[in-house]
Amino acid sequence: MKRKIKLFDPVVTGKEILYIKDILKSGFWASGAGIGYVLDFEKKFQKYIGSKECIAVNSGTAALHLALSTMNLENQEVIIPSLSFVSTAHAVLYNKAKPIFVDVDPKTLCLDITEVEKKITKKTKAILPVHFAGIPANLAHLTKLARDSKISLIEDAAHACGAEFGGKKIGSHGNMVCFSFHPVKNLAMPSGGLVAINQSNSKEVKKTLASKRWCGITERKGTFYNIKKIGWNFYMNEFSAAIGLAQLEKLDSTNAQRQKIAKRYHQEINLERKMPFDKNSCYHFYWILVKNRDQFRKNMADIGIETGTHYTPIHQFSMYRGSDKLPITESISKSIVSLPTHPNLSENDVDYVIKSINEIV
Ligand SMILES: Cc1ncc(COP(=O)(O)O)c(C=O)c1O
Repeated sequence: MKRKIKLFDPVVTGKEILYIKDILKSGFWASGAGIGYVLDFEKKFQKYIGSKECIAVNSGTAALHLALSTMNLENQEVIIPSLSFVSTAHAVLYNKAKPIFVDVDPKTLCLDITEVEKKITKKTKAILPVHFAGIPANLAHLTKLARDSKISLIEDAAHACGAEFGGKKIGSHGNMVCFSFHPVKNLAMPSGGLVAINQSNSKEVKKTLASKRWCGITERKGTFYNIKKIGWNFYMNEFSAAIGLAQLEKLDSTNAQRQKIAKRYHQEINLERKMPFDKNSCYHFYWILVKNRDQFRKNMADIGIETGTHYTPIHQFSMYRGSDKLPITESISKSIVSLPTHPNLSENDVDYVIKSINEIV
């Protein structure tokens, strides 16, 4: 049988099925009327990352949309990398602000701090770094820069579930930190996301977000409620939360397995340009830079190894195209190939991936 190695593959080895049966039988599937899995997930995730507050939503996109909605961004600017999933920029537009694209550091592919500094203007309201592939952006510099410029630091931590910076889990640093629990992510759900809040008024912000995530509903008394401001239907459902709880129980151990695989890639793949090894990274995937990428990926696919291309730069999509010139982003995006790091890979699979790459390049 032909070998098939998937790029992403959720790990289902724990209590997922048990929890799902519990909810199915309960008949209460939405979190409002549910049997407490969403609440439980919020509490346990908050404890895990060490944030002040957490609010669960139904996607990473919703988390970014919601976090930015607290900031009165109309006609203002938010600094983001272009090397990201398009939601990072869409979230800025949903809030009527302008995304300002900044180039990345060629070593980590996270925002280049010097370039960020150059793009701060009177209109800048937030810096929104992405912890690319699981390597934390330099939060020490970014926090200082945001503080000195009196703007917010909102993190896109879609790749960084379980990663650390300065001895603390990602989620406990920025004013708000947005997670995605899309099925490909280190903590996988059918769909889900979360906003971690770390501000002096975190409780108040959580209350606002709780209302906004459910159509603006507030002042609930039995079946009656009031609406004061617009909101959306961003509620996480009980099934997603239950799977998330089972995934959270094993996250540190699955991330340790990802690190082990990444370490081997770093040591054994005979390529100059590749993702560094960083013990703070949770290795959502591992990236390498290759020449003749299309041919390389075809050769890998032919022998059963799925690879990815993270990402087409956002500033090159038709709706975002302008005069931006981001030389590092543009060059990296032509040669980047993402490799699997998920814990369903056997030792044998990892040997096979490494050996195949070294033969093909
Ligand atoms: C960097 C980044 N930001 C945001 C998102 C959006 O998350 P979701 O797919 O859960 O909406 C993703 C996920 O695909 C992502 O990779």
